Amino acid sequence: MSAKRLASITPFHVMKLLARARELEAQGRSVVHMEIGEPDFITPQPVTDAGIRALQQGKTHYTPAAGLPALREAIARHYHDQFGVSVDARRILVTPGASGALQLILAVLVDPGSQVLMADPGYPCNRNFVYLYEGEPVMIPAGPEHGYQLSAGLLEQYWTGRTRCVMLASPSNPTGTVVSGGMLQAMLGFIRQREGSLIVDEIYQNLCYHGKPQTALALGEDIFVINSFSKYFGMTGWRLGWLVAPEAYIDDLDMLAQNLFLAASTPAQHAALAAFEAPTREVLEQRRRELQRRRDYLLPALRSLGFGIPVEPQGAFYLYADCSRFTGNSYTFTTTLLEEAGVAITPGIDFGHYQADRHVRFAYTTSMEKLQLGVERLASFIA
Ligand SMILES: Cc1ncc(COP(=O)(O)O)c(C=O)c1O
Repeated sequence: MSAKRLASITPFHVMKLLARARELEAQGRSVVHMEIGEPDFITPQPVTDAGIRALQQGKTHYTPAAGLPALREAIARHYHDQFGVSVDARRILVTPGASGALQLILAVLVDPGSQVLMADPGYPCNRNFVYLYEGEPVMIPAGPEHGYQLSAGLLEQYWTGRTRCVMLASPSNPTGTVVSGGMLQAMLGFIRQREGSLIVDEIYQNLCYHGKPQTALALGEDIFVINSFSKYFGMTGWRLGWLVAPEAYIDDLDMLAQNLFLAASTPAQHAALAAFEAPTREVLEQRRRELQRRRDYLLPALRSLGFGIPVEPQGAFYLYADCSRFTGNSYTFTTTLLEEAGVAITPGIDFGHYQADRHVRFAYTTSMEKLQLGVERLASFIA
């Protein structure tokens, strides 16, 4: 029998939906995929070439648990070159995806019974990792009036003697909204007073469509930052991410990494060395502009169909939409939409509880033509 802690872990409902979509496709039906959290682009060629070269040169042994020293240095240089922030490479650990980074950080911070504050709606795995470590995720309702993000005021309202840390993602999954520098500074000030820790997930950092991307690392060396080669860098399947941690936690994180994963994938780390180079960045910036074009099409199209998107998403590749004009049950809405109209989207329930029944998430991770087809199908489904 599985351990009791498994009782709190929730599945991704969208995986069931995706499996059903694949089944329909196998039967010859066409499905527009707006449920998938990874763009349709493949890994940029210079990165793939570097990965192939590493394999051909026999670079297939373990790296140190904290990652290839050259990659940690390259990440540090990236913070300096793009953000003007100096980060000691020693504070950077390379991990199997941002998922590996989340597991490590929560493992060093969460005691049984510790509370971790996070926004609802938010990235679903976060609360499950907290449960795994026998902590208590506190999901704070964060609606459009809060830009779907936490604030110092909300932290003050929900902080207790058991609160250990706060997790946020900027831009966020599922809402694409960003925490402003001022808001982040105010939250950090509050958390420092309470001697807690702040974890900022910056996995969608370079997928920002307004203004310059920011990093929380500019605010101090006491913040945990998570990032990944998955989304912007187009390397989801290579399973590679990183974390930046306060100096005092590095040895413990390294020790845990040795035990949990031994190291991240070696060929993937060699491939990622090419991710920050100019030819790759050119491709990635072109893709970012294409994602912006898709967002600029889909956002008004969904609004004119009657979906409520009150806060303009500034980043990532998601639109979190109120569908209460059409249904009181967003889960049934997504399954019927798939069966009857061949459009796959994600139900709100995957991101938390707060008004989940009246929300769905659209991902603009497919081509413009397919998005247009999806909107046509949605329009006749709703009519
Ligand atoms: C906010 C957020 N954090 C972390 C992850 C994990 O990404 P990966 O492990 O592929 O780096 C995701 C994936 O969708 C995400 O949306």
